[in-house]
Amino acid sequence: MNIENSCIVIFGASGDLTFRKLIPALYNLFRVGRLGQHFSVLGVARSELTDDSFRTKMRDALIKFEKAEGQELEDFCTHLYYQAVNTSEALDYAKLLPRLDELHDKYGSCGNTLYYLSTPPSLYGVIPECLAAHGLTTEEYGWKRIIVEKPFGYDIKTAKELDEKIHHYFEEHQIYRIDHYLGKETVQNLLVLRFSNGLFEPLWNRNFIDYVEITGAEAIGVEERGGYYDGSGAMRDMFQNHLLQVLAMVAMEPPAIINADSMRDEVAKVLHCLHPLTAEDVKNNVVLGQYVAGEVDDQMVVGYLAEKGVPADSNTETYMAIKCEIDNWRWAGVPFYVRTGKRLPTRVTEVVIHFKTTPHPVFSQNAPENKLIIRVQPDEGISMRFGLKKPGAGFEAKEVSMDFRYSDLSSASSLLTAYERLLLDALKGDATLFARTDAVHACWKFVQPILDYKAGRGRVYEYEAGTWGPTEADKLIAKHGKVWRKPSGVMKKKV
Ligand code: NDP
Ligand code: BG6
Repeated sequence: MNIENSCIVIFGASGDLTFRKLIPALYNLFRVGRLGQHFSVLGVARSELTDDSFRTKMRDALIKFEKAEGQELEDFCTHLYYQAVNTSEALDYAKLLPRLDELHDKYGSCGNTLYYLSTPPSLYGVIPECLAAHGLTTEEYGWKRIIVEKPFGYDIKTAKELDEKIHHYFEEHQIYRIDHYLGKETVQNLLVLRFSNGLFEPLWNRNFIDYVEITGAEAIGVEERGGYYDGSGAMRDMFQNHLLQVLAMVAMEPPAIINADSMRDEVAKVLHCLHPLTAEDVKNNVVLGQYVAGEVDDQMVVGYLAEKGVPADSNTETYMAIKCEIDNWRWAGVPFYVRTGKRLPTRVTEVVIHFKTTPHPVFSQNAPENKLIIRVQPDEGISMRFGLKKPGAGFEAKEVSMDFRYSDLSSASSLLTAYERLLLDALKGDATLFARTDAVHACWKFVQPILDYKAGRGRVYEYEAGTWGPTEADKLIAKHGKVWRKPSGVMKKKV
């Protein structure tokens, strides 16, 4: 599907996400010819920048983050424009009218406009209203779409309120709730692995799978985002969105066809089947943690409470582990252990399917368990672990692995990054990899009891930076007689 001529309006254009992710993604799409020449990018924020000063700022970011240079960089920058607008003041949006007219004329984009909301979330409901006040949401002249960054709401109530507000001005098919994990090639590959191979589907259920482990670990701390993070925590920042979406990809039923509706129907269905947590379940099946000073990558790092922008008495969790269950025929009784945290030993996101052992140990008490390890990042790939005979006398089994690594594919270097893929899809009008309202609500509904626990200042355990989280998380999985995998940053190393 080709993209039509269009204007991309980024609200929050003087912010971190714009220069670190959005502009680099657009630049890379331009570089490989996916955007063509008939597009414009209009940055909008309150800061008093001009087209020229905005271009300079973005040029510097591209040189820094993408090692961009030469004529290609200069050509790309000519597509960038800027308009200062007081984003919470409806009257001020009038300034956008002549700018948009001028850009649609210049690039022949006939009113086609993609709005990207990359501002503080408090403006996600305000901006659509202000745009509508100036007739900038109607589709009489070109299509209008809106990408909304995370967090989409703060809890189930605010997510519903936000939906209601946006739906006053945009139809559901125009709304693109972005979760950049869905743009990751390896997350999409979960679907292809499951649904294009006859081998896995018969095994992918409670009869053969003992438990599933999902890890989203980061070695970084909260960096410059302490202020934002403290109001969010690991639960809202990573679990409620990214990791529940990954869980849905692992657990969903096959869609009848691959299109936005049937895919998103299946995602919503499985998220609605998450076993609701009672207050007692939260105490037994959820572990929250906060890092204290420790060593990561051979460097001493400060504890969370000493990070910039974090109140000294904060109870915000930087780690979370949970046992979830899915109430349907495929998964009844199979625990999904999910954990995420900052300042863990390494950056790794992976899904591990732990298969049941043989009914009777013929060769050795310690025969290895069969595991399928799906490495989302880094060192993306898939590894199947199984037992084979140890050479020599007797019948002792040892674990061996069959590994596939994305980097071995000659085309791997041309893979789109998550933001590139999702921006391109939104420009094409393909919402398959964006979260639909019912799925977002199902996620919030599931986590609400954890939010209630947090609001009551529920227990948050300390863990040393550079370790795999609080020991209470080990006890959580030990109830199943298991231990968490301790993955290294490189898939080949077995741990
Ligand atoms: P920043 O704080 O760096 O940028 C916020 C932007 O919003 C600035 O351009 C700011 O510019 C503009 N803005 C407009 N109105 C207001 C206002 N009333 N108050 C404050 N700022 C305003 O945030 P990020 O770029 O980091 O994040 C943007 C959104 O994207 C957030 O919702 C965040 O949660 C989400 N996000 C960010 C990620 C990241 O890695 N940074 C990752 C995933 C999601 P000005 O002051 O000139 O108006
Ligand atoms: C963002 C979170 O959504 O995802 C960050 O706000 C987190 O806190 C980031 O670091 C992780 O994304 P990735 O793609 O690096 O795994």
